[in-house]
Amino acid sequence: MTILPGLLDTEAIRKDFPILDRTVHDGKKIVYLDSAATSQKPRQVLDALNAYYERHNANVHRGVYTIAEEATALYEGARDKVAAFINAPSRDEVIFTKNASESLNLVANMLGWADEPYRVDHETEIVITEMEHHSNIVPWQLLSQRTGAKLKWFGLTDDGRLDLSNIDEIITEKTKVVSFVLVSNIMGTVNPVET
Ligand SMILES: Cc1ncc(COP(=O)(O)O)c(C=O)c1O
Repeated sequence: MTILPGLLDTEAIRKDFPILDRTVHDGKKIVYLDSAATSQKPRQVLDALNAYYERHNANVHRGVYTIAEEATALYEGARDKVAAFINAPSRDEVIFTKNASESLNLVANMLGWADEPYRVDHETEIVITEMEHHSNIVPWQLLSQRTGAKLKWFGLTDDGRLDLSNIDEIITEKTKVVSFVLVSNIMGTVNPVET
């Protein structure tokens, strides 16, 4: 899915987010740009959370009474909706975590214990870039320390893009992981993911 600038009805979208009705600094409307750190919640999410806690809150997968079964159905129903939304081939590919850091730590840890062909060990290489947030650096550093895998980095060009001039040296037959951000939170660079 590609969303082109200008095609988003931002005024309509803003209306879904109650917090954006707030004003700050003597009446100025909020423009919120820190979504990578904390995302604002639209009315639909706030309502769903309230409805859940008011009517269904119970142990998921562990109870045989009415509200526990409702909670399980809602939880697993959300997995199906997310799988359809991201076009996942299987609902089993959707794993809920609390944030990006936990997700990346989970993936990195798992690769250290995985069976072939996924296993990262001292004969393999991991590739990241110099424009990553800590949450996409530290998990790979830890995996590299634990397994002996070599950690390699794409550098940056002077205009803040990924330097792909040595891509054939950085990504090799030994590469098991290439992990990089789509859009840099520091420079706004959009990386050529398809390439
Ligand atoms: C650009 C960016 N990437 C990743 C993260 C890590 O996000 P999370 O809190 O979801 O682990 C943050 C958090 O501040 C961030 O600002």
